[in-house]
Amino acid sequence: MSKRGPFIVIEGLDRSGKSTQTALLLARFEASGIPAKLLKFPDRTTAIGQMIDSYLKSTSELDDRAIHLLFSANRWELVSTIEQLLAVGTAVICDRYAFSGIAFSASKGISYEWCRAPDVGLPAPDLSLFLDISPEAAKTRGGYGEERYEKEEMQRRVGEVFRRIGKEIDGGGREDGRWVNIDAGKEKEVVEGEVWALVEPLARGVEGPLRRLWT
Ligand code: TYD
Ligand code: MG
Repeated sequence: MSKRGPFIVIEGLDRSGKSTQTALLLARFEASGIPAKLLKFPDRTTAIGQMIDSYLKSTSELDDRAIHLLFSANRWELVSTIEQLLAVGTAVICDRYAFSGIAFSASKGISYEWCRAPDVGLPAPDLSLFLDISPEAAKTRGGYGEERYEKEEMQRRVGEVFRRIGKEIDGGGREDGRWVNIDAGKEKEVVEGEVWALVEPLARGVEGPLRRLWT
């Protein structure tokens, strides 16, 4: 039976190094001659993504639950793309995914269960890597930008929800894949090496069907 591509998600707080590490990971795949594609959520290029973009830039206001559902819909609209890539053996690397959806919205006071519900049944990553950094250390990396959520107190709450999600996935059996916390306060090259050490065993493909999150 031919293998499908691995589905790898990188999560973390703002300024934890996700964009750097996802780009480095893509380069590792390319250097190894393995087809791979990098996706990023929110995908601001779609119609839904443009609504999210203007919300994040505070040029529009939306109810907390309405924006939550748009973030989720933005993932669902990419599901067929993800499935097709994996089916032909292409690795999919995602910069943020459903875990960000829960972490940010739950940090605004919406219940965890409510936040998780719209993402139940999405393709489950084979491996989720959480780039763990303290909000203080993140801030010294040049300060947060102007976007909504880029504030220390918010980031602290978001980090707590991420850790809760990670514990549940670790304790919840294989359906939701594997979750690993990585100390993202280390040097970029060290983090990159740790990421690749975890991804490499899956890089050339995984056996078995794609699983579904929280089912
Ligand atoms: P981010 O990855 O930080 O984009 P950029 O690299 O362009 O800054 O994502 C923007 C913000 O959106 C970030 O603060 C996290 C938030 N977010 C949610 O609130 N819910 C979601 O489902 C996702 C994917 C992101
Ligand atoms: Mg950001």
